[in-house]
Amino acid sequence: MSEELRANAAALEAELDWLQRVVDARIRLHCGQECLVDSPAALPPPDPRTPGSAYARLLQEHRLTPSERILVALALAPHVRPQALDVFLSRNAVLERPFTEFGGVVAPHGGFLPTAETALFLLAGDALHARLVASTLLDSGHPLFQSHLLRLEPQPGSDTLGSARLAASVELVDRLTLGRARRPSFGPAFPARRLTCELTWDELVLEPYVLNQVAEVRAWMDSGHTLLHAWGLGRKLGPGYRCLFHGPPGTGKTLTAALLGRQARRDVFRVDLSLVVSKYIGETEKNLESVFQHAEKQECILFFDEADALFGKRTGLSSAHDRYANQEVAYLLQRLEAFEGLVILASNLKANLDDAFLRRFQSVVHFPMPKPAERQRLWRNAFSPVCTLEPGLNLHEVAERYELAGGSILNVVRYCSLMALQRQSREILLADLHEGVRREYQKEGKTL
Ligand SMILES: Nc1ncnc2c1ncn2[C@@H]1O[C@H](COP(=O)(O)OP(=O)(O)OP(=O)(O)O)[C@@H](O)[C@H]1O
Ligand SMILES: [Mg+2]
Repeated sequence: MSEELRANAAALEAELDWLQRVVDARIRLHCGQECLVDSPAALPPPDPRTPGSAYARLLQEHRLTPSERILVALALAPHVRPQALDVFLSRNAVLERPFTEFGGVVAPHGGFLPTAETALFLLAGDALHARLVASTLLDSGHPLFQSHLLRLEPQPGSDTLGSARLAASVELVDRLTLGRARRPSFGPAFPARRLTCELTWDELVLEPYVLNQVAEVRAWMDSGHTLLHAWGLGRKLGPGYRCLFHGPPGTGKTLTAALLGRQARRDVFRVDLSLVVSKYIGETEKNLESVFQHAEKQECILFFDEADALFGKRTGLSSAHDRYANQEVAYLLQRLEAFEGLVILASNLKANLDDAFLRRFQSVVHFPMPKPAERQRLWRNAFSPVCTLEPGLNLHEVAERYELAGGSILNVVRYCSLMALQRQSREILLADLHEGVRREYQKEGKTL
């Protein structure tokens, strides 16, 4: 890791040294001062083959030209060497104001933030033809902007291209410095949280036929890339893998999604669809898009919980066609299909799943209520190893008798373990267990 950081720092130092030479030459030429070259283009950029740096990989991946490298270095400068741009803050002594031709805006901390005008000045000076050529690099269709590495942020009150701020995305800065992206934090702009778990596959209790279906998803995680690329099936199969987990609450859907991420060493991001699918989706669409993009770039797993929101309770819409034609839902479904990775949707409502919806999934896994044999394993795994069971408390009988899902079993175990601790004991009592079960049944509207 520290080796990589060193390589990243060295590559950025070299690139910014070069940027500073370019800035210096451009200003000298512009002001008619003595300059060693007759164009900044004569200053060769550093060797892009600096081994092992994230910058070298970026250059290779995007085959950046020297002009494109100026754009990237300029956008990066405020992050890694803000003083490199201080020269642009100098004032025109004749007019007693900043040089219009340098563009830029002054940050609240006083530093110089480049704009498109700054980039055009560096690339072309004031020669109009050269500026027109350079401005094609600033087109929103240019790969640097399309891939969201750079962006142009229009400034309030000004609508010229030149006045838009040239900014590097957080992802680009993180990638070139730390070598990886920081994990975005949850908020309105990124409505997803990372899902983690402390359990292992051995602790996941499912009937063999369900485990087999989960194994299919694991196989895709292991070999999907090979299938789509080396085997060339990507053109026919489309990009990602969509999977629906459905079944009653507490049967292990979320747990399985977290375990799949852990197994594949991928982050799992959980989006709660019930919070997102509303009639105001227009506003959240953009935010969801940032989740999709982050997940695609970082090869994360996306987990959409409460997927019922997509097909449940959509009042007044009778046929499946109407439901999916609904604009907000249509966006999500389309985006899910274009997503280049594993997406898992989880739902409790089997009754509402129809063929039009199910056809969109490569796997549909039903998580059933556990049978007595699975319940017995769940009970055994759930108690702390430091506690003991009252003689006469037989987990085999308990498992046979009460139909509870894994999540509810955990609730009962929490309840009777706390009762034991209150008694300053480590012994779990049958009476407490019964009371715990009664409470769970009550929640579900059942009686013992
Ligand atoms: N099949 C299972 N094997 C092992 N543990 C389980 C299983 N099902 C549930 N549990 C336990 O119960 C907890 C809750 O389960 P989980 O959150 O995965 O349920 P869910 O199916 O996602 O429920 P919901 O539909 O309410 O979201 C898990 O963290 C785990 O500790
Ligand atoms: Mg869940």
